[in-house]
Amino acid sequence: MLKVVTVVGARPQFVKAAAVSRALAKAGLSEVLVHTGQHYDWGMSDVFFEQMEIPHPAYNLGVGGGLHGAMTGQQLEKIEEILLIVRPDRVLVYGDTNSTLAGALAAVKLHIPVAHVEAGLRSFNRRMPEEVNRILVDHSSTQLFAPTTVAMDNLAREGISGPQVKLVGDVMYDAMLHYRERSVRPDWFGDMVGTASEFVLCTIHRAENTDTRERLAGIIAGLGTSQWPVVLPLHPRTRQAISEYGIEIAAAIRIVPPVGYFEMLWLLANCRAVVTDSGGVQKEAYFNRKPCITLRDETEWVELVAQSYNMLVGANRDAIAAAIAATRSDVQFSTGLYGSGNAADLIAQELT
Ligand code: UD1
Ligand code: UDP
Repeated sequence: MLKVVTVVGARPQFVKAAAVSRALAKAGLSEVLVHTGQHYDWGMSDVFFEQMEIPHPAYNLGVGGGLHGAMTGQQLEKIEEILLIVRPDRVLVYGDTNSTLAGALAAVKLHIPVAHVEAGLRSFNRRMPEEVNRILVDHSSTQLFAPTTVAMDNLAREGISGPQVKLVGDVMYDAMLHYRERSVRPDWFGDMVGTASEFVLCTIHRAENTDTRERLAGIIAGLGTSQWPVVLPLHPRTRQAISEYGIEIAAAIRIVPPVGYFEMLWLLANCRAVVTDSGGVQKEAYFNRKPCITLRDETEWVELVAQSYNMLVGANRDAIAAAIAATRSDVQFSTGLYGSGNAADLIAQELT
């Protein structure tokens, strides 16, 4: 039986692993889950394991917070120890976080083949920590699972093509389809937003937006102009930055703690529009047929912009204000940009 070690650590990876772990079990593969501890609050980690019934990690390395080098280095060291004990046939990694890089580097140095889910994404902005992680992981991988044709093309341009690269679709789409019946209205919704059916859902956490006061203040000021309540489940990084910079929050903005995946599904299904700098949430807006306003200067998910489902506004107050004011609830959406909802099964098949 093929033995796979899966390395996860940050919120989007729990969502992706929920879909793939189920498919691996169905295909009869043996999986050992390693959680690096990069995200560690209950609302950033445990809630996803509980709601999505992800297998309990066999190891939790407890390496979260701190500078990039220290975090990645400590994770790498501890993952190597585990790989030497478990001796898997493959190491499976997701996306572009420091945990992804640590997992891939630990494996490739031990000559264990790396399988990368969400391969080939590029923002072409090397100042993003995620961009460096993606490039290094793709070039260390033996099996690459691309979500889109654009990702396939990006890999080909870097000389990565052939039978080891497979277009499978996006595992976040699989997750959404599987769990959407179980969406939950957050219990604070009535008190925070009232009975108004129209609200804007916002998430902010990118380093480029939280690490400079000017950008974060521009975003918060833009959100504050919204005529609809802005529900903002706040990532701990952004909470710290708002408090450190002393940024004032306008009445339109309703700050709540990070929500679980089931609550997020409800908010996505019921909002008027999405404003975000998250990679995953841009796609989830599309899955839920909601217009998306992206608080970045570029995106990896360029097909959404090409189809006008997504608009890039950066961190400019006026651009954000104008984009929110112009949101329409009657946009027609096509389907199929991210596969057929069977990406996880295709990955399991390829692994076997
Ligand atoms: C990380 C990923 C990013 C991903 C995001 C998903 C990297 C380089 N970045 O960014 O690609 O989009 O996760 O959410 O890997 N913190 C807590 N509690 C937690 C987790 C974090 O308080 O449970 C705080 C800590 O102060 C920590 C800070 O948030 O230092 C940043 O966390 P970190 O994991 O370094 O980066 P993210 O911004 O979460
Ligand atoms: N998410 C969530 N609760 C939140 C914010 C995000 O469940 O309060 C989910 C979101 O629906 C998506 C995933 O977390 O499935 C995306 O993670 P995040 O935005 O942190 O990371 P990114 O995709 O930008 O790497």
